[in-house]
Amino acid sequence: MQKEQLIEEAINIRNHAYTPYSKFPVGAALRTKSGSVYLGCNIENAAYPVSCCAERVAIFKAISEGETEFDEMAVAADTKRPVPPCGSCRQVMSEFFNQDMLIHTTNIDRLVKTFTMEELLPFSFAPTDLPADEQ
Ligand code: THU
Repeated sequence: MQKEQLIEEAINIRNHAYTPYSKFPVGAALRTKSGSVYLGCNIENAAYPVSCCAERVAIFKAISEGETEFDEMAVAADTKRPVPPCGSCRQVMSEFFNQDMLIHTTNIDRLVKTFTMEELLPFSFAPTDLPADEQ
């Protein structure tokens, strides 16, 4: 699946978002190195902090299916600029994505800004910062 297709999938999966509180649907499409694509949308909760962002839903779906090697991700929302992933999602991304992996942030006008993982979260706290016996 090409970058453009991944972006379309991220835009379309917003239709499944559960956003009665924010009314702000977000979509994410994550391609694995083997070519599978995992989609995610944000899922909110009446207890607001329990909500989960689209990016983390896509990543957790993939990880829970045994995927560990990722190639590219697209994230989309109806924003003026390409939607910036939140800090929590950046930290989760950095746990599983290589520093040079590309993340395409976009909006429904298909305005795209692409970042490497390193650009999205420089100097990130990593598993290697933990004591050796906890890694
Ligand atoms: N949200 C995402 O799903 N991803 C982002 O990158 C930004 C924010 C969600 C969380 C919440 O459901 C809604 O957008 C408003 O913050």
